[in-house]
Amino acid sequence: MVKSTSAPTADRPPRPPIGGGAHRIGSSAIRDLLALAAQPEVISLAGGLPDAASFPVAAVADATAELLATDPASALQYGPTEGIEELRSLVAAHAGATRTATEAIITTGSQQALDLVARTLLDPGDVAVVTDPAYVGALQALRASAARLVPIASDEHGLRVDLLADALASGLRPRLVHVVSSFDNPTGATLSGDRRVALAELAEEHGFWIVDDDPYGALRWHGVEPEPLRSLTDRTISLGSTSKVLCPGLRVGWVLAPAAVAPSIAVVKQATDLHTSTFAQHLALRLLADRATLDAHLDALRATYRQRATALIAALDRHAPGALVHRPPSGGMFLWARLGDDVRSEATADQLLAEALDTGVAFVPGSAFAAGPARRHERHLRLSFASLPDADLDLAARRLATVLSRRPRHRARHRTA
Ligand SMILES: Cc1ncc(COP(=O)(O)O)c(C=O)c1O
Repeated sequence: MVKSTSAPTADRPPRPPIGGGAHRIGSSAIRDLLALAAQPEVISLAGGLPDAASFPVAAVADATAELLATDPASALQYGPTEGIEELRSLVAAHAGATRTATEAIITTGSQQALDLVARTLLDPGDVAVVTDPAYVGALQALRASAARLVPIASDEHGLRVDLLADALASGLRPRLVHVVSSFDNPTGATLSGDRRVALAELAEEHGFWIVDDDPYGALRWHGVEPEPLRSLTDRTISLGSTSKVLCPGLRVGWVLAPAAVAPSIAVVKQATDLHTSTFAQHLALRLLADRATLDAHLDALRATYRQRATALIAALDRHAPGALVHRPPSGGMFLWARLGDDVRSEATADQLLAEALDTGVAFVPGSAFAAGPARRHERHLRLSFASLPDADLDLAARRLATVLSRRPRHRARHRTA
């Protein structure tokens, strides 16, 4: 009889059918929740989807027709791993004078850029600093590389760079620090100018990479963007995307990395998918290069999101005055709100979600974004206003108000005889 080498024994548990990377990622709480929020009677403030009505359908149709009529061979052929030259140049030019096309690699969405950067820079056990709370997709990509994630708190001005400086002074040696510098997902916060300068200085002093994940920066409707991190230090790797400014179905993003890193990222990408869809890249090129149409599209998008953010906040004030503590966002797609101290003080946002779904409204509880202990964000909610018209935002706020105004349900006490 042949003895199976993988047979479990008393001291060796059976090997799971999937490998370590998938185990480490775990499942996304957002994905699990979205499944519940997808019921037609539920108004979902939970999704992170851009407004489908804003997609530039006519421009995509025109660009497709023109592309297939004029350059079908390039559109449908294999292409270089780093991406098509014209799109790389355009992305680099948009990023500023100091960037060259050789630093730009076109990726399959910025999520792939996160994954490639993680796999290029991190060996198992390396330290990656993340904000707490953090973008779930970044946590997944970093966890897959078996890095040791070290959460550092963020507030309404982004990463607490002072706490990072303390940790560095105590001996922390990160390989990279991940931030969403503008209109963070989930907090909506923008890393302040002062903190950007301080972070850039720390990166140079301690030799870590700043991974600046920036899909939302173009969605600013109020104020001025602080100096981009990439102009403050060459130790910045910037990630960008067409997903939130054009449409996510194109799956076109990019990474801008200094010459010391870009070729290695390209090697990892080649092993992953050879290159991002040439068809999608050519469409993205046409849509991004037509500056006048793009600017008009972005103006309309920012106006829509500003209007919806205002409408959601007004509806919350109307139906649940004072129940949620939040700061009006200056851009992006999210409102990060904390339950007032005397609002359902017995419950966490996770617990309230079940009631909210019964009442016909969904949100993402803050704990879903926890990079450290979940309880730090257990009274927070991420509310997405981007894809709902005013009437739905009003109804969603009214339903949420019903849940928030309920009398506390005290947890059943376990009695002993
Ligand atoms: C902060 C952040 N980074 C990256 C992504 C990934 O976007 P995409 O892969 O569509 O470019 C998202 C998506 O929601 C995000 O919120």
